[in-house]
Formats: sequence, C-alpha cells, structure tokens
Amino acid sequence: MSSYLITGVSRGVGFEFLRQLSENPANTVFGLVRNKAATESKVAAEIGRENIHIIQADTTDYVALEKAAQFVSEKTNGALDYIIANAALQAKTALVGFDTLSSDPGALEQDLIDHFRINTIGAIHLFNIFMPLILRGRAKKVIAISTGMSDPEMTLKADIFQATSYAISKAALNMAVAKFSAIYREKGVLCMAICPGAVNTGSLQIETEEEGQLAMAMFGKFKQYSPTFEGPQKTEDSVKSVLALVNKATVDGGYAGTFISHTGGKPYL
Ligand SMILES: NC(=O)c1ccc[n+]([C@@H]2O[C@H](COP(=O)([O-])OP(=O)(O)OC[C@H]3O[C@@H](n4cnc5c(N)ncnc54)[C@H](OP(=O)(O)O)[C@@H]3O)[C@@H](O)[C@H]2O)c1
Repeated sequence: MSSYLITGVSRGVGFEFLRQLSENPANTVFGLVRNKAATESKVAAEIGRENIHIIQADTTDYVALEKAAQFVSEKTNGALDYIIANAALQAKTALVGFDTLSSDPGALEQDLIDHFRINTIGAIHLFNIFMPLILRGRAKKVIAISTGMSDPEMTLKADIFQATSYAISKAALNMAVAKFSAIYREKGVLCMAICPGAVNTGSLQIETEEEGQLAMAMFGKFKQYSPTFEGPQKTEDSVKSVLALVNKATVDGGYAGTFISHTGGKPYL
C-alpha cells in the first residue's frame, strides 16, 4: 500500500521501524545500511518478510545514496511515500561536556565534524536525492529522527552539558528540516523532525564502570528535566508512538517543518 525508505536499519530504532512497517504485507520497505550482508541475515532470522529490501549505503556517501534511489525507483515506478532519516552517530563523547572535551581541541573538532557529516549532511543529501521520488509518491512525508537534546529549552532546564556534538548536529538537522519544508510544503510534502524519546537501544555501548557512572549522571539530568522519567522506554513502544505521529501529522495540520516529540508535546521524556 505504501513505500518507506529508512536509514540505519541494522539495529535499534531503525530495525524496529523495519519490523513494524513490514507487518503490513502490502507495504514495501527499503532499509539502508552500512553492512548489507549482516543486516540481511538478521532480517531473515528475526523478521523474514519478502516486502523488505536491504540496500548498501553509508549516508555520508552521496554516490551510494544516488544508487539507492535508482534501486528504489526501479522497484516503485519512480515514487516513494515516506522517508525516515534515522541513521545517526552518537559517540561516547556524549557522556561528557565541553569542559572535558576542551583538553583535546583537535579531537573535539573531529567529533563535531563526524556528527555533523552523519547526523546533518547525511540527511540533507538523502532528502535531496529522494525528493523527486517523494514528489511522485502519495503520502509525501519526509521525517528526520531528532532528539530532545537538541532543544535549548530542555538543555537549559536541567543544565544538560552532555552530548555536545550530537545535540548540535541534531539542532542543525531540525533547521535543515525547516528549510526543506520552506521549499516543499507548498508542493504538499510534510517535512518534520521527531524525537523518539529516550529509547533502550544501547546506542552508547557502555562498557566500563566509569562510562556507566557518566551515563547514570546523564539520566539524572533527564530526571531533573522531567521528574516522571523512569528510564528509557522499549524500542517497540517508541517506534509505535513515532509512527502514530507520522500517520497523524499533515502539512495543513500545523506540523510542516516542525520539530516535536513522539508524544506530540513536551517534555520529550
Ligand atoms: N536511543 C535513544 O535514546 C534516542 C533518543 C533520541 C533520539 N534518538 C535517535 O533515534 C535514532 C536511532 O537511534 P538508535 O538508538 O537506534 O541508534 P543506534 O542503536 O546507535 O543505531 C544507529 C543506526 O544508524 C546507523 N548509522 C550510523 N552511521 C551511519 C552512516 N554513516 N550511514 C548509514 N547508517 C549509519 C547504524 O549503523 P551501523 O550498524 O552500521 O553502525 C545504526 O543502524 C537516531 O537518529 C538517534 O539520534 C535515539
């Protein structure tokens, strides 16, 4: 019935988008990954549906994205209903703030560039390359998965000093979404950024006791921001709520170009 393109489906939220969206056999779901063989094996073992197509494409590789668009176009007669830009980098530098990172300015600069390339520029190239297909699609929805960490209000409410490069790159992503909306809203395309809440995907890959303590300190900040926060939610629940919002949101309903939480309001957590 609908066609979907999702980036970063090898694990976490992306894999769950793939699973939930492919539940309807009438949907065609395309998933972009950096390791096609590994994800195909995982999909075969854990989902096993014919309506899923895994495509090799690092989102920082413009040519690979163009090839992906050609592949999708051949399968769908040149149209695409939904894009979900989900792939992201959240490096372990997220556990500390500028005061710590300032000890190595070169590493800090590289960290900022790495996050910006994947989290911001990757999505911008993706949207530009796939927009012709979206314009020929029926749903015409372009979604960026963002984070409440990119919101100055959330940051200031609990002095959340962590996740510097990550939050900055996602704030830029939110603005990119607004800029895309400024062009394509009139053509009926909904461009929107959505925070999925805190999700239990293990994305920070905590390994040491020190990292565990830093992660707990960050969760402490989340609780300070939102006193009802009891820890990350299940991936399944987060994706369900994001998709409910994606289905509900329309260009004319005040959603065009916005950045909002999966709950539809604040707090994000
Ligand atoms: N988890 C949370 O609490 C949370 C909260 C707010 C927002 N979010 C957002 O939700 C989205 C998913 O988060 P998650 O927790 O599922 O993250 P995750 O577990 O770290 O997964 C990230 C995904 O992005 C892929 N990826 C990274 N760089 C890529 C690149 N250059 N090209 C293609 N794919 C790339 C990874 O692929 P590889 O397997 O190849 O590395 C992986 O599939 C992200 O946008 C994140 O910022 C998450």
